[in-house]
Amino acid sequence: MKSLFKRFLLLFILATSVVSCVENNKPNYEYMPNMYRTVPYETYGEYPVFENGQEAKLPVEGTVSRGWMPYPYENSAEGYAAAKENLQNPLPYTEDNLAEGKQLYTIYCAVCHGDDGDGQGILAEREKILGVPAYDDAGRNITEGSVYHVMYYGLNNMGSYASQTSIEERWLIDHYVMNLKDQLAGNPEREFEVETNRFNEAENLIPAVNADKEMVSKETSTTGEEEENQNEE
Ligand code: HEC
Repeated sequence: MKSLFKRFLLLFILATSVVSCVENNKPNYEYMPNMYRTVPYETYGEYPVFENGQEAKLPVEGTVSRGWMPYPYENSAEGYAAAKENLQNPLPYTEDNLAEGKQLYTIYCAVCHGDDGDGQGILAEREKILGVPAYDDAGRNITEGSVYHVMYYGLNNMGSYASQTSIEERWLIDHYVMNLKDQLAGNPEREFEVETNRFNEAENLIPAVNADKEMVSKETSTTGEEEENQNEE
């Protein structure tokens, strides 16, 4: 009996001494650390294996993310003028494209510009925003290129739609805006084109600013190479 009591006492002392060692401010033992800590690196984690210790890296210079194309016109008066003059809608003017453009226009633009593009959207009517022009405003003389440019960068009170719409969606809206302009101005309806293959046609949604120039420079560079070769010989 006595020994049993002693054993209990011993056990009790042992147990309390173990428990009393636990420090509440520190994490306890981890029996299976992989359950708590991921083996792969975490996105914003710090790891000595990287140059600056950071897992998150900047994209390689000169690369663009998938589905995104750099827009070659600057956000300046010159950029606007150049886009207005040169930039053209690469999507065919088909009934489907126009219908899609109308849907997107109704979502993004009609609150200010109105369903008819006369500048009398609900926000303009309630005077929440002022100075919304009609699309047939003669002083502005909007073009496919200028409409795209304005959607991309915004203009004064009008914000940019670059983050809310894709390149293709902006071109769809563009068709519809030009259609509204024609209606307001009383121009004859533009005839629909027959769609061949949208993906082929839309491959290059933003043509280079100066395609001719590029070709010229490529040609000169080949001649340059030839010259070099000749020099080697
Ligand atoms: C919050 C209200 C608002 C919304 C929404 C809006 N706009 Fe505008 N928009 C304006 C205002 C204001 C101006 C006049 C800006 C100026 O000239 O100072 C303008 C001007 C324009 C112009 C004329 C630009 C020029 O070249 O003079 C076009 C084209 C245009 N908007 C198209 C669009 C399209 C397309 C959308 C939808 C993607 C859209 N807007 C959405 C307020 C808006």
